[in-house]
Amino acid sequence: MPQRQLPRWSELRPLIGTGLGTRSPVERRLSAAHEIADLRAIARRRVPRAVFDYTEGAAEQEITLRRAREAFRRAEFRPRALQDVSKVDTSREMLGSRSDLPFVFAPTGFTRMMHHEGERAVVRVAERFGVPFGLSTMATTSIEDAAAAGPQARKWFQLYVWKDRGAGAELVSRAAESGFEALILTVDTAVAGARLRDARHGLTIPPSLTPRTIADAALHPAWWFNLLTTEPLRYATLAGWHGTLADMVNKMFDPSVTIDDLAWLRSMWPGPLIVKGIQNEQDARLVADHGADAVVVSCHGGRQLDRAPVPLELLPAVLDAVGGDAEVYLDTGILTGADILAAVAMGARGCLIGRAFLYGLMAGGERGVERAARILRAEITRTLQLMGVRAVDELTPGHVRLRQA
Ligand code: GLV
Repeated sequence: MPQRQLPRWSELRPLIGTGLGTRSPVERRLSAAHEIADLRAIARRRVPRAVFDYTEGAAEQEITLRRAREAFRRAEFRPRALQDVSKVDTSREMLGSRSDLPFVFAPTGFTRMMHHEGERAVVRVAERFGVPFGLSTMATTSIEDAAAAGPQARKWFQLYVWKDRGAGAELVSRAAESGFEALILTVDTAVAGARLRDARHGLTIPPSLTPRTIADAALHPAWWFNLLTTEPLRYATLAGWHGTLADMVNKMFDPSVTIDDLAWLRSMWPGPLIVKGIQNEQDARLVADHGADAVVVSCHGGRQLDRAPVPLELLPAVLDAVGGDAEVYLDTGILTGADILAAVAMGARGCLIGRAFLYGLMAGGERGVERAARILRAEITRTLQLMGVRAVDELTPGHVRLRQA
């Protein structure tokens, strides 16, 4: 039997106090997150259910989103051993300049609803991590305020072709004046997708005070306190709107948009033009022929057409169709650095992530977004090293295959 002795204080001291007392409650909460799924679990506890479900949910039976995630899980890497991977380069050229990581913060709507720090938090983290930031037409921070929050960040402005073309044109010129380098035209929104979770919650923007939401306030007092004591939640591009999300979207979206509208936009925007929401190879070719510099193979996070093609499966056909005439990006269902690397290995220039950083935002504001970016960066770096690949740019289709379901 080993001899026992009472521990001495000098031996105990290094074992305790891992930050206790020195870190803020937010930092302590976030330190328990080791993957995006952990941030999601924290987020779920922190915000009202309707807000979480707006972010989490997709359209109709949510088949598209489930399939998109399953496709990433089918990706299998083909690693090489005995490569010197003591240093890896995670950067990627996007639209003529380097991004430090192969992803972009996607434009997301109502971001201040998830956390009062909203878009400002996201653009600041984009600036620190050297990745592009997308600002949505449905943002809750104005073009000018977002630009001021991240003056050095690469900023891309997302636009829908509005029924009122003049209103759209005005946003484009404000984005240009505020230093946005690229324009993203979203084309998968002829009408609003049926987000059944939002309909069931009766979600309005801003959230209305009803007996249900008041009861919820008791469960999430910090979120409600922040909502009521910070700048009122409103669309930065559509002042004074109050109503349901679907009504708002249908007011803005124009089901009569055609390729001529892309030509119109091309004629007034001299910078890079990205078309997001490409769901087949013919459309990819068509928009490349009409001046798109990049396309995003996307089903809008599964939030528009349900049973849409799975972006990762569609990617090879789109790459073939554009044949190098436009950069090809991909989104929907991305929750890990390995998902991003699988898409890049298959030929994507980079990925857009949405929910992955929004979970962080809901979990802890700017520090939560930062945690999400750190997690993804660490996963990208480690996965490259374990694959025996020294740089994101060295990934090829030979590094990955999709297993049969
Ligand atoms: C906005 O674009 C959304 O998907 O909710």
